[in-house]
Amino acid sequence: MTGKIAGKRRVFSGIQPTGDIHLGNYLGAIKQWVESQELYDNIFCIVNSHAITTRQDPATLRAKSYELGAMLLACGIDMDKSSLFIQSEIDEHAALAWILDCNIPMGDMSRMTQFKDKSSKNPKNINVGLFNYPALMAADILLYQASGVPVGEDQKQHLELTRDVATRFNRDFGECFTIPEPIIPKIGARVMGLDTPESKMSKSAKGENHAIFLLDSPEAIVRKCKKAVTDSQSGIIFDESRAGLYNLLCIYEIFTQQSRAAIEAEFAGKGYGHFKAALAEVLIDSLRPIRENYARLQREGGYIERILQEGADKVRPIAKATYQRAKELVGLV
Ligand code: TRP
Repeated sequence: MTGKIAGKRRVFSGIQPTGDIHLGNYLGAIKQWVESQELYDNIFCIVNSHAITTRQDPATLRAKSYELGAMLLACGIDMDKSSLFIQSEIDEHAALAWILDCNIPMGDMSRMTQFKDKSSKNPKNINVGLFNYPALMAADILLYQASGVPVGEDQKQHLELTRDVATRFNRDFGECFTIPEPIIPKIGARVMGLDTPESKMSKSAKGENHAIFLLDSPEAIVRKCKKAVTDSQSGIIFDESRAGLYNLLCIYEIFTQQSRAAIEAEFAGKGYGHFKAALAEVLIDSLRPIRENYARLQREGGYIERILQEGADKVRPIAKATYQRAKELVGLV
């Protein structure tokens, strides 16, 4: 379809502009996106329209959307190799979501476990948009004829719904959408909370030592590593049953790119204090370039806004072509 980079698989990724980016977001998604830029024709989308399914302060949402854009560039998203834009800049997302809405059985949508989760956590604001969230997500993906979507466990069901509605639409109205496949992220990239090693690092967790954010100061990183929950056993070894230590070691492994044997040898006979100090140092060194890039981008007034606008202009023709075809097929033109 339109605009596809020759021979490369088109992959669509979405990320919400809520909360600050932490190590879990970085290792679980962003770092892998950056590394896949030679391999795929990537479209990265800041999904601000999804964010308003829960109540947002308007000024904060606007600022966070641009901050996330700057953060993705700081991490290494390259606008010459990939596309990056803000979802609401392209009207066709919401417009296609409506056509899809009319082709998703109520029963299918009612099975979405994330809606059940989110609505039970936030009973005061269960709105129709939250229920329909997966239709908008399907529109994001289908508009660009993406054949792959990186998904974690929590988004698999939404991608399955996307495949179902696209397949049904193609069958009932005529060929329109590429059927996307899940791209399952590498294992080992699941980062757990530093204070809750049995659950995933999360933007919304309250503990002040729960997550390391990419923009944390060196002092904050040292403090959080020191406070990270471990156990009363000894020996710095990769043992999944020692969840806290295992999580820290996996983070160390990813950033140093050393083998597990080499890491265990490095810390043989040493205690937690020693290991945690080494981990903090590796994190500070690895995150420094991101922090510096980010600060530089923020200093260039208006730059991020312009880049994101250009990103939207680049992909808009693809979205328009797909939407026009869907409209024609259902008889809206
Ligand atoms: N629902 C995704 C999440 O919360 C974000 C998202 C929106 C997305 N649209 C998408 C992810 C399209 C992949 C493809 O993580």
